[in-house]
Amino acid sequence: MTRHFLRDDDLIPAEQAEVLALAASLKATRHTAEAPVPLRAANGVPRAVAVLFDKPSTRTRVSFSVGVAELGGYPLVIDATTSQLGRGEPVADTARVLDRQVAAIVWRTFGQERIEEMAAASRVPVVNALTDEFHPCQILADLQTVIERKGSLAGRSMTYLGDGANNMAHSYLLGGATAGMHVRIGSPEAFQPDPDVLKRAGEIAAETGGSVAWTADAAAAADGADVLVTDTWVSMGQEGEYDARIAPFLPYAVDDAALGRAADDAVVLHCLPAYRGKEIAADVIDGPQSAVWDEAENRLHAQKAVLIWLLERNA
Ligand code: CP
Ligand code: NVA
Repeated sequence: MTRHFLRDDDLIPAEQAEVLALAASLKATRHTAEAPVPLRAANGVPRAVAVLFDKPSTRTRVSFSVGVAELGGYPLVIDATTSQLGRGEPVADTARVLDRQVAAIVWRTFGQERIEEMAAASRVPVVNALTDEFHPCQILADLQTVIERKGSLAGRSMTYLGDGANNMAHSYLLGGATAGMHVRIGSPEAFQPDPDVLKRAGEIAAETGGSVAWTADAAAAADGADVLVTDTWVSMGQEGEYDARIAPFLPYAVDDAALGRAADDAVVLHCLPAYRGKEIAADVIDGPQSAVWDEAENRLHAQKAVLIWLLERNA
């Protein structure tokens, strides 16, 4: 069975720890002679990785392009609008065409069922570069950043304020629980996490010593948090709901008041792009407790680690 990375719980705790350790080592050895080049074939020719986008991207596009090149490979970045996939060619047919020519498929798309269909038909690893439901590469980068700032993950509390029903909230629940963290989601009642994801995260947390919780009380959620995170209130594909989506989230902004409730040395994260004055105050994201630029850089290292890990398992 080909291993894929479609959601955060595709890595069991020991595997997540292995990938995060690899990410740290790749960061430390970047541009050195020790840096691994697993995407360079035996004849020296780079192997391709397809990086497909059904939605816009800056960080994911750049970090996968740079990362694949740094691993000795060739990134084949394809916008859906310029491909037959965007015109309705079946997902499984696309997988069957790509997997004979590329070493891995990375895809940013809409419904999770689309990437699951791609993975089911692909003999090479498929990596989720964001779906409506999950953003697992981002959470690995976030966890790497927390380790850099705090030294460890297990037992630390991580609070997410904002849209509890979006991809980031779901990935924090699954990825944080896998790392043994205490994940709290503070969101309006109408924007709660998917109950199945919350349940699954709870099962994982029961094994790792972590915990997961949802509350509509933003102040209680932020209380004492070691890591305070948020994300846009209007995700890609929801632009038409912009006006209706702002008011319910106003009490959940990561502002000075929220940061004041967190631990004194709390780290602030945001996957970016950020909307200052909406989900996060300018002085918080640009302030001394913010680690968002390290977080964005760590996308590169974490994704290189995921690719190496998957290529080794599927060799
Ligand atoms: N955080 C993130 O995935 O950014 P992009 O949408 O720019 O890729
Ligand atoms: N929740 C956001 C994340 C962007 C990286 C979105 O899906 O647009």
